[in-house]
Order: sequence, then C-alpha cells, then structure tokens
Amino acid sequence: MSKAKPIKSIGIVGSGVMGRGIAQVSYTAGYQVILVDKEQEIVDSSIKRIENSLLKLSQKGRLDQKLADEAASKIVGTTELSSLSQCDLVIEAVFENEEIKKTILKELDQVCSQQTILASNTSSLSISKLGSGLSRMENIVGMHFFNPVPIMNLVEIVKTVKTSTQALESVVEFVKSIQKKPVVVRDQAGFVVNYILTPFLFDAVKALSQGLCTVEEIDNAFRFGCGHPMGPLALCDMIGLDILVTAGNKMFEEYHDQKYAPPPLLKRLVDVGDFGIKSGRGFYQYTGMEKKEPRQFC
Ligand code: 3HC
Repeated sequence: MSKAKPIKSIGIVGSGVMGRGIAQVSYTAGYQVILVDKEQEIVDSSIKRIENSLLKLSQKGRLDQKLADEAASKIVGTTELSSLSQCDLVIEAVFENEEIKKTILKELDQVCSQQTILASNTSSLSISKLGSGLSRMENIVGMHFFNPVPIMNLVEIVKTVKTSTQALESVVEFVKSIQKKPVVVRDQAGFVVNYILTPFLFDAVKALSQGLCTVEEIDNAFRFGCGHPMGPLALCDMIGLDILVTAGNKMFEEYHDQKYAPPPLLKRLVDVGDFGIKSGRGFYQYTGMEKKEPRQFC
C-alpha cells in the first residue's frame, strides 16, 4: 500500500515561464493553485497569460471552455509567501540563482506547515545544498520541469539522501496526475537530461565557432537528419543561453569534465545580454516568440 500523502493544493513561487507553465498544468488537473511573485502586477499579468493560453486550448477543442473561463478567478495570485502556509506542495520556480532560491526556500520553511513538501524547479543546482539547514530535509525534493511546460511530458524528480519515501511517492503521484511522466533521479548536477543534453548543445556551439557550417545548417542537420523537433541552436535560444552557462558551470564544477565547460561563444553572447528568445537575440534574432533570422558568426 502506498504511503503517499495525497496532494490537493499547490503553491508556486515565481510566475515566469516555468512557474506559469506549472500553474497552468496544475490548475487544469484540478488542483487549488496559489501563484506568488514579488509584485502584484507581475502575478496578475502571469495569470492573464495563463488564461490566454487556456483560451487558445479551448478554442482548439482541447480544454473545457469553463476551465479556461474560470482560470483567472480560481488561480490565486499574491505577493505573500505566507499564503502558502497550508499548501501540500510548494514549488519554487524562480530565476536560476542559488542564493535567491536558498533564501526563498528558507522563508518557505519558516511559513509553511511541517507537512508541506518543498520542491525546487532547477535545471542543475544541488537540491541537497538548496535544502541544507532547513527543518524538513525529508520533505525536500527537486522537480525539474521542461520548457514549454504545457507541452513537454517529462518531470525529473530529484531525491536527496534525506528525502523520505512518503514525500517522493506523493510527488510522483502528483506528477502522474498532471499527465506528465516522472523520472526519479539522484541529486547530482544536471540530473539525467542535462547531464547528457548539455554537452551535445555545447558541441553545436563549438561546431558553429569552428565555422563548420552556419546556424541554420547545424539546426537543419539535426531536424532533418535526426528527426529532432528543433535544432540544437534554436533549442539553446529557447532554454536561455544564460541558463545554459550556469548549468554548464555547475556540471563542470561537479564533474571536472571539459565537455561541461561552456564554450567561449556562448559565454560572450551572455556577456552582451543575448540570452536567446527572452532577450530577442541569441543564435537567432526574434520578434516576440517568432524565430526571425539566423545570425552570422564568422
Ligand atoms: N507554450 C505552449 N504551447 C506551445 C509553445 C509554448 N511555449 N510552443 C509551441 N507550443 C504549441 C503550439 O501552440 C502547437 O500547438 P498545436 O499543435 O495545438 O498547434 C504545438 O506546440 C507545436 O508548435 P509549433 O507548430 O509552433 O512548433 P513545433 O512543432 O516546432 O513545436 C515545440 C514547438 C513544442 C517547442 C517543439 O519544437 C519541441 O518539442 N522542441 C523541443 C523542446 C525541448 O527539447 N524542450 C526541453 C528543453 S530542455 C529544458 O527545458 C531543461 C532545462 O533545464 C534546460
């Protein structure tokens, strides 16, 4: 018999791309959702974006219109972390910065009930380190969602040596209930996907730097040669070049393997603020979410 405690209410901290996506899929699966960000206008605008995304799905006949119509009134948006005190599961999904994530988890540890499971949505940071010093190491997990959250079906669930079986099982059940596939991974940098994916993306950047071929040719090679839905450089832009540099550095620090060292071209793009889709420029130039033009790098 499962020891998992059923999860009914979800708190999400951070209403950016990942937080919004997690809120959307949790809401449509029937959970009570509270979304927190540091300013009320930010969280209100995020809920509006979730509503728009749900309306599009209902127009395509993939979602009950009533669920879309009620999203804005049912998803609670607030700036108060204390509103999450009674949530069964709180997922921190703020910017990929160790200090900020640690501070938020510490505050959550103070305001949330001891039964609340605290999760961090991170691509590469150590869950053990993020959770160290908290009063509930048995109720700390990592939950690595993939971008775009409403479309990508995987969630890596990261367990530390202290995560309890009950907390793990509860989170696995939650992930299944939002129609995603859970993969449970040990807490080591990059977990399993980024451990394997990041060197591949870095190799694409290195091939570009070496002038092997152009941005578009590298991407087309993998789209048409290997059936990838998007090429590696377009994927870098979607993930965020800054996120990739942070993840690469974390993995390099952990494994001391050169394949995780972010390539110079990637670092230079980040230095000048070219982060990919979110800043409008990366390996491509964008207007909104639309890919516009591949850039020349030689
Ligand atoms: N949010 C919601 N829906 C989206 C979306 C988004 N950001 N982007 C695209 N979609 C939807 C579209 O509306 C469309 O829906 P429809 O079938 O109902 O019309 C559907 O997805 C397909 O979109 P498009 O036709 O515009 O384009 P594609 O067929 O190229 O699909 C894609 C877009 C789903 C992003 C696809 O290219 C893809 O799967 N790419 C790979 C993404 C990937 O690998 N993500 C993981 C990144 S790694 C990560 O996140 C971890 C991190 O730690 C680094």
